[in-house]
Amino acid sequence: MSALLEVEKLNSYYGDSHILFDISLEVAKNEVVALLGRNGAGKSTTLKSLIGMVRPRAGRIVFDGVPIHGLKSHAIAVHGLQLVPEERRIFGTLSVEENLVLAGMTAKSRWPLDRIWEVFPRLRERRRSRGTDLSGGEQQMLAIARALVRDPKIILLDEPFEGLAPIIVRDLLATCRTLAEAGQTLVIVEQNVTAAMTLADRVYIINNGHMVEAMSAQAVREHPEVLHRHLGV
Ligand SMILES: Nc1ncnc2c1ncn2[C@@H]1O[C@H](COP(=O)(O)OP(=O)(O)OP(=O)(O)O)[C@@H](O)[C@H]1O
Ligand SMILES: [Mg+2]
Repeated sequence: MSALLEVEKLNSYYGDSHILFDISLEVAKNEVVALLGRNGAGKSTTLKSLIGMVRPRAGRIVFDGVPIHGLKSHAIAVHGLQLVPEERRIFGTLSVEENLVLAGMTAKSRWPLDRIWEVFPRLRERRRSRGTDLSGGEQQMLAIARALVRDPKIILLDEPFEGLAPIIVRDLLATCRTLAEAGQTLVIVEQNVTAAMTLADRVYIINNGHMVEAMSAQAVREHPEVLHRHLGV
């Protein structure tokens, strides 16, 4: 079986600082992969390198059979790889609905809004509200919905639960699980390891820009000391 996303020996830099060292990973279709690591380990840089926001200096990224390393981020997005960034970046002056229509505009295929409302009924209620008037949880729903509306093959989630109340995290987790069960391929970066572990099929751990573990979620549950060793949890 060939992977939907194959990353081989990725090396990324900020200026002269070498941040990612030979990062390799694979994501199969319908899989949920968690990418874990301490603060500053290089998780966000990995996601940014995948979508071309950071231009990797070496390495190969093959997505759905197409080499995408070196492509511009909008071209990578059109191929079906979507990042939901940590800072969410929704348009505060636009309504929920306008944010979604705008996001869908340049996509090859898109979800009808009714399908988005089924996943996020709360966003339907808030469809006329401006981005700035949304709660943190609603903003995160909108950030994920903006990715979904472009009918992506993979969604990369960078700390989707950060700063949200436990009850909101529980709801968002349930939504992510529903999406995963419907076949949506996900890569999730989270400090909330417990939450990430309830979703993940497989786990990668990054330490100081190096990939140090690649395990099934089942193996991690059987050997939780691995999380303690690398993450201190
Ligand atoms: N724009 C930037 N310019 C220079 N260095 C950066 C930049 N962004 C991140 N770094 C550095 O790159 C390293 C990896 O950062 P990255 O954001 O990928 O880590 P992370 O694993 O996502 O951490 P966190 O859990 O804090 O989000 C860190 O040492 C960080 O200080
Ligand atoms: Mg980060």
